[in-house]
Amino acid sequence: MRILITGSNGLLGQKLVAALRLDAEMELTATSRGADRSPQPLGSRYRALDITVASAVDAVFDAVRPEVVIHTAAMTNVDACELDPAACQLQNVTATKHLVQAAKRHNSHFIHLSTDFIFDGTAGPYREEDVPAPLSIYGHSKLDSERLVMNAGLERWAIARTIIVYGIAPGLSRSNVVLWAKAALEKGQPIKVVDDQWRMPTLAEDLADGCIRIAKRGATGIYHLSGTDGMSILELVQRVGAFFHLDTSVVTPVKSSSLGQPAQRPPRTGFILDKARHELGYAPRHFEEGLAVLAAQLQA
Ligand SMILES: NC(=O)c1ccc[n+]([C@@H]2O[C@H](COP(=O)([O-])OP(=O)(O)OC[C@H]3O[C@@H](n4cnc5c(N)ncnc54)[C@H](OP(=O)(O)O)[C@@H]3O)[C@@H](O)[C@H]2O)c1
Repeated sequence: MRILITGSNGLLGQKLVAALRLDAEMELTATSRGADRSPQPLGSRYRALDITVASAVDAVFDAVRPEVVIHTAAMTNVDACELDPAACQLQNVTATKHLVQAAKRHNSHFIHLSTDFIFDGTAGPYREEDVPAPLSIYGHSKLDSERLVMNAGLERWAIARTIIVYGIAPGLSRSNVVLWAKAALEKGQPIKVVDDQWRMPTLAEDLADGCIRIAKRGATGIYHLSGTDGMSILELVQRVGAFFHLDTSVVTPVKSSSLGQPAQRPPRTGFILDKARHELGYAPRHFEEGLAVLAAQLQA
């Protein structure tokens, strides 16, 4: 199966590459902006691709003729999206349109990554069919891109929504909450952590596995793929501290409104995972099992 990944330098992208590069069933092409930042360079299996450039997207698709596309690339910094809506629209919506059009020409199975931030967080955990109501520019852009994917006339499409992805990979352009909390607690640095946002954090390896299950089964429709354990961000940080035996007395609980962040966050998201479990055999790890995976990688 010829499979093309966008955003292969990102957290999910790197985990997909790690899982697929040795998979005998898959002929992998990884693409991302700029040079390949995989720990083991992919050589000719990597192509630099800025997905905002339609002609570049078309050229790569014509050369690779992908049977499956996993579209992970996005502008993922929620506050940056709020401050620069035009860039967010270009990266998250216009670029998705270029990819969808190319996928349509090649009859590719198009798997699109989306987010819990399409919901307003008043009624989590959410099922796939619940009604979206984004609160932020980022959430709107991801919902608009979902609608593009659904309504483009693609023969096979899937949307994989996820929540706070954590993990470790080299050369990431941004950190994640688990690494941030661990680093701050290790330094004994005082941190303010919100206690009024509730999430189900997702180990990047589990999300990659869910996406690959969608690809291999040719599954279509919307799937919720998150971790199993729901918690406030405060509890998340406390559990990271407990797992790594770090002092959490430096943590001050605060309310979201006190942080003055540009983008509004949904208070309570979380996903009901029944559909992914039953249809895909998706079996994400518990939070501490995920932390153990990360700890082993840090040691190696
Ligand atoms: N991370 C989360 O907590 C989270 C939660 C919900 C949903 N999601 C969704 O899951 C997906 C994967 O997230 P992630 O955590 O892997 O994000 P990430 O680590 O920020 O990776 C995104 C990757 O996309 C690349 N990219 C951005 N614009 C591009 C462009 N124009 N052309 C080519 N590549 C481009 C980035 O390149 P650079 O490295 O060069 O910047 C980056 O490597 C995204 O669609 C995101 O919206 C993530």
